[in-house]
Amino acid sequence: MENVFEKYTNEFLTFKDYKNNGLNGIALYPAMMIDEMQKCILEEILKIYEKKENLVLLDPFHGAGTTLLIAKQLGVNSIGFDINPLANLITKAKLYDYDRDELMSDKNKLFDMLDSNIRFHLHSFDKIDKWFRLDIIEKLSKIRFCIMKIENKFNRLIFWTIFSNVVRKFSNSRSSTFKLHMKEKQKIDLMTDNVIFEYKKELEDALTKLSYDACSVSTQLLCGDSLKLLDSIKNESIDIICTSPPYGDNSTTVTYGQFSSLALRWIPREDLDGYAASVDYNYSSIDKLSLGGSKRKPSNNLVYLNEYLELISKSKQQKIINFTEDYIDVFEKLSSKIKKGGYIIFTVGNRKVDNQLFPFVKINDELATMYGFSKVTELKRSILRKRIAKKVSSVDSKAVESMSEEYILIYKKEGENQNA
Ligand SMILES: C[S@@+](CC[C@H](N)C(=O)[O-])C[C@H]1O[C@@H](n2cnc3c(N)ncnc32)[C@H](O)[C@@H]1O
Repeated sequence: MENVFEKYTNEFLTFKDYKNNGLNGIALYPAMMIDEMQKCILEEILKIYEKKENLVLLDPFHGAGTTLLIAKQLGVNSIGFDINPLANLITKAKLYDYDRDELMSDKNKLFDMLDSNIRFHLHSFDKIDKWFRLDIIEKLSKIRFCIMKIENKFNRLIFWTIFSNVVRKFSNSRSSTFKLHMKEKQKIDLMTDNVIFEYKKELEDALTKLSYDACSVSTQLLCGDSLKLLDSIKNESIDIICTSPPYGDNSTTVTYGQFSSLALRWIPREDLDGYAASVDYNYSSIDKLSLGGSKRKPSNNLVYLNEYLELISKSKQQKIINFTEDYIDVFEKLSSKIKKGGYIIFTVGNRKVDNQLFPFVKINDELATMYGFSKVTELKRSILRKRIAKKVSSVDSKAVESMSEEYILIYKKEGENQNA
């Protein structure tokens, strides 16, 4: 089967002219995958199967929902998990099949309220005036109040999703990093307060991209820790696992939680997944709950990992151990959920820590062999358009370089595939 992937050269997979301006691009989220790439790869895998109707794809780290959206377009049922309530909300908003008339009527109601002199409460949370200018707080509070007046909770999904973009855009945090980092005072003062105009414009645009056709494909989305949620899936029930897992602990790789924390403080908890109620929203809580966020003891004998740990300083070793121990647990659970002959498609990168390349591809290969998978292929692509700063974080005051290449790893579980 590896021959079918020969045409997917680095040149092809780089998607030089790609613009994320379709449905997948309506919401801002860090490190989003290229939907066209996911589509090509998944289509290739699906050719193996006689029938697609009964297949189930799992994305245990769905992020902004790129893979789940493609699975839906290709007619494949899916299950998706993510620990970040904002990721869960925007993915739900993209996957929902709206009733066009009802949505347009609610949008008109919302716009009428926004254009009126409606009385609203000023929203407040800890340090709100650090992250937002007072006039911006007023406008965002008005939008929030008006969205809450809309009764249809599914229509509110898309209203909140676009609201989260606008919260980010008009906050005092820089757009050049996913971390919360104050803009210079002069830039804050110069921001034009056209919040409501921007919101309406972005919402109008998003409404042209949503799905309005009732679709028979099922998508089940759950917010929470994959490690726990995987226990709710029957063993050997998944045909394809397709995801882009975190490459390291969030606080030193991509701070998905911090990125989302401002928007999450504006969106009422009742409109987020029930899991959100259990999350304390300080600015780093989601990142700490994510893979690699808490302390673990080394308990594995992975060759590449242990060789790597020797190369880096003691102060950096613990974070690598925390992440890989969690990752190994997830890998083990995933391997029990997949059917014999099923496929894993992982998009991963090798980041540098302490100036040494963390061999994540080799660690995945080692785990795959350990849990009964054979490697189908490894495709490499250069990352051109990821909104990742070249230096993403600073640990012990030294910069850690981010990756500029990623790999698509395809593994097949041993055994006869019953559906092929
Ligand atoms: C690389 S991103 C996925 C990006 C996604 N493929 C896309 O195109 O948007 C990884 C995701 O893993 C999530 N994550 C990290 N630890 C998790 C955990 N323990 N359980 C569930 N999701 C987790 C993060 O919130 C993040 O959204």
